[in-house]
Amino acid sequence: MNTLFEHTSIRKFSSKKIEEPVLENIIEAAARGSNTGNMQIYSIVVTRDQTLKTELCKRGHFGQASIEKAPIVMTFCADLNRFTKWCELRNAEPGYDNFLSFYTATIDTTIAAQNACIAAEAQGLGICYFGTTNYCADEIIDILHLPKHVVPVTTIALGYPDEKSKKTERLPHKAIVHSETYTDFSNEDIENIYAEKEAIPEYQGYIRDNNLENLAQVFTKVRYNTKNNKTFSKKLLETLKKQGFMNND
Ligand SMILES: Cc1cc2nc3c(=O)[nH]c(=O)nc-3n(C[C@H](O)[C@H](O)[C@H](O)COP(=O)(O)O)c2cc1C
Repeated sequence: MNTLFEHTSIRKFSSKKIEEPVLENIIEAAARGSNTGNMQIYSIVVTRDQTLKTELCKRGHFGQASIEKAPIVMTFCADLNRFTKWCELRNAEPGYDNFLSFYTATIDTTIAAQNACIAAEAQGLGICYFGTTNYCADEIIDILHLPKHVVPVTTIALGYPDEKSKKTERLPHKAIVHSETYTDFSNEDIENIYAEKEAIPEYQGYIRDNNLENLAQVFTKVRYNTKNNKTFSKKLLETLKKQGFMNND
């Protein structure tokens, strides 16, 4: 519980090597995760090579330095390639070139990634996820030589922490939990739920720096704006088509 409750993302890593048994535990924890039909339709690409990490950082993660500097970068991929090949070898016709199969595989992949993160943190390592994987899936496919029916879903950088990062706030439980059925939010509920987050001085700074009216606009106008959401949606859909996951007819 302590590992879970004390989680903070770590973006600066020391040069201390991650020993093989520590990495093995992380992989075993990932593999132990629940997964659809026990098919394990994911793969984990472990990157230690500096040239590859630099390439991933530049072309795959918008230059976010933790990717280049972490001792290990793990790219978690939805993978129907291996399972499809097994079916083909066994005279079993695979039907996994569609969106549902991809979507299912992303769930398995994410569960494996989070298990890996918890195992890493329980052994004293720090982790950070990188959502840039979804913006630059095509570039990562190229760098990591991912074949058809394999798409990167998320990336974690890991290593021993070289910073003490502050615990970030979370919404109150009433924001995320509904009893028995969903109770929709009144304006008053929304005011109440977001009041604490909006009062955080650091966030007030973002609002001032970007000349905005409030914190919600930091998300809608800067961090996750419509234009980027649409541009990268189209790019990702193209990648899914190219990787053979959009045969839905
Ligand atoms: C799917 C996903 C994508 C993320 N992408 C990035 C990223 O690209 N860069 C980054 O610095 N942190 C990234 N993060 C880390 C979040 O910013 C972080 O988890 C969140 O702000 C909460 O902070 P905490 O993890 O320290 O509690 C990502 C986290 C997740 C789960």
